[in-house]
Amino acid sequence: MREMREAIEGRSAGPLGRNDPCHCGSGKKYKACHLNAEQAAQRGTAPGLGQPAAPGSRHVQRIAGAGARLHRHNPTLIKTPAQIEGIRQSCQATRRILDLVEARIRAGVTTEEINTWVHEATLAAGAIPAPLNYRGFPKSVCTSINEVVCHGIPEQRALQDGDILNVDVTCILHGYYGDASRMFLVGDVKPEARRLVQVTRECLELGIKQVRPGGFVGDIGQAIQAHAEGADFSVVRDFVGHGVGIRFHEEPQIPHFGTRGRGHALLPGMVFTIEPMINAGDWRVDILEDGWTAVTRDGSWSAQFEHTVTVTSSGVDVLSA
Ligand code: MF3
Ligand code: CO
Ligand code: CO
Repeated sequence: MREMREAIEGRSAGPLGRNDPCHCGSGKKYKACHLNAEQAAQRGTAPGLGQPAAPGSRHVQRIAGAGARLHRHNPTLIKTPAQIEGIRQSCQATRRILDLVEARIRAGVTTEEINTWVHEATLAAGAIPAPLNYRGFPKSVCTSINEVVCHGIPEQRALQDGDILNVDVTCILHGYYGDASRMFLVGDVKPEARRLVQVTRECLELGIKQVRPGGFVGDIGQAIQAHAEGADFSVVRDFVGHGVGIRFHEEPQIPHFGTRGRGHALLPGMVFTIEPMINAGDWRVDILEDGWTAVTRDGSWSAQFEHTVTVTSSGVDVLSA
């Protein structure tokens, strides 16, 4: 998931006028920003829109630095049907790798062994493991046990009876990114940890149900937050879902908390992840000295599920299901 680097600014629901501020948060007028691209996308005639950018191209989406605003027009926000099919194939490779992990996982397996399974299965699928060397990440998969919220680095630690584990796989297949993760229960898991995993699964399902053209990013976050907090759990704030497909992490950010009718408009052809991280205790996290591993500050356990979805003309299509 993507680190939250700037506050998500909302706006009131309602039709957007040509002279209103663009929903993407650029601060430009809608007509000077996303209006033309979206009209073209809706007509299905978006010449050159959203083509995969070559590495180093100045059209490559940059992740904004701390405090930066996303000013630039983003050619990857709305994907073409051909791109969505490519992303679907990559997501399906990711799903099959998670199925393989699911069939093999048991107490005594080390996270390093899971890394080897994922690495080899990814190559066998003709794909590249996106995490490897991504911003210096040293392994091909993230494995996050118990109080680890996300970005756990595979190592020699063996899974123990009672552990809960997230395995987060991202393939690059024919240049397209497919990102998904699941929880696994190792042996006899305490009832409270089982409840955490089940509620987190439901949070993802409820978030996905909010996705439809005419909706807003805030609808997703509101549904997830209400369900998690209603179960006396908390929603992690520091990491969010993200646009995905042409790059690993694109616009828009998808917080797992928020307010209905606020945030970026949901538009047909957008592709993004929903990946709620839900803590049994407080939502605050710390990053360990390795610079990656995010753990709950209070030591409580944390769970996460992730899918890549696309907004269709009538609703949602879960590309990694
Ligand atoms: N797969 C994670 C996500 O859902 C990102 C992992 S980045 C890595 O966005 F470098 F840690 F692999
Ligand atoms: Co993700
Ligand atoms: Co992921």
